[in-house]
Amino acid sequence: MELIEIMRHRRSIRKYADEAVPEEKLEKILQAGLLAPTSMGKRPWEFYVVKDKDTLERLSRAKVHGAALLAGCDTAIAVFADSDLSDAWIEDSSIALAYMDLMASSQGLGSCWVQMRMRKDADGGDAEQNVREIMGVGDPYRLVGVLALGIPAEEKAGYSLDELKWEKVHR
Ligand SMILES: Cc1cc2nc3c(=O)[nH]c(=O)nc-3n(C[C@H](O)[C@H](O)[C@H](O)COP(=O)(O)O)c2cc1C
Repeated sequence: MELIEIMRHRRSIRKYADEAVPEEKLEKILQAGLLAPTSMGKRPWEFYVVKDKDTLERLSRAKVHGAALLAGCDTAIAVFADSDLSDAWIEDSSIALAYMDLMASSQGLGSCWVQMRMRKDADGGDAEQNVREIMGVGDPYRLVGVLALGIPAEEKAGYSLDELKWEKVHR
């Protein structure tokens, strides 16, 4: 499929079947993350793959809104980055997340980006810090977000090229 078609069909999927993500698909997703460009080629990121149900459940409570889906996914990838190694760690992590998200979609998997940086938990605590504690990852590693992955249990229509917001383009 052409890249534009993969992009058109990529949607955030938040409901997953109780089925494992095939290992070869996970491998491709991780390859996509590792292929992502980084500022000055520093590759500050570290990808933590989570399959343990109890850990996924704890991650789902790390943030008050928009993280519950993590309890129902099969696999999550937490993207940490060494913030001392690169001042572009947010950009680098975001690109890797987006690449992996797109690859997941191209593999027929459901995926959803779960933002943790700058977000709160139900008690007003810091979501990113919660995830760092759950995963045992401390300074200088920071976290932008977590990618939830699973076999899709919901269908969403792709976007139409006829409905793009061309008013956002200035030329
Ligand atoms: C930076 C970023 C943060 C996001 N955070 C969350 C989140 O915490 N929880 C969630 O359910 N979806 C999250 N999403 C998914 C968006 O809600 C979704 O991309 C948007 O609604 C458009 O829908 P689509 O992905 O199906 O095109 C995030 C997406 C991005 C790019």
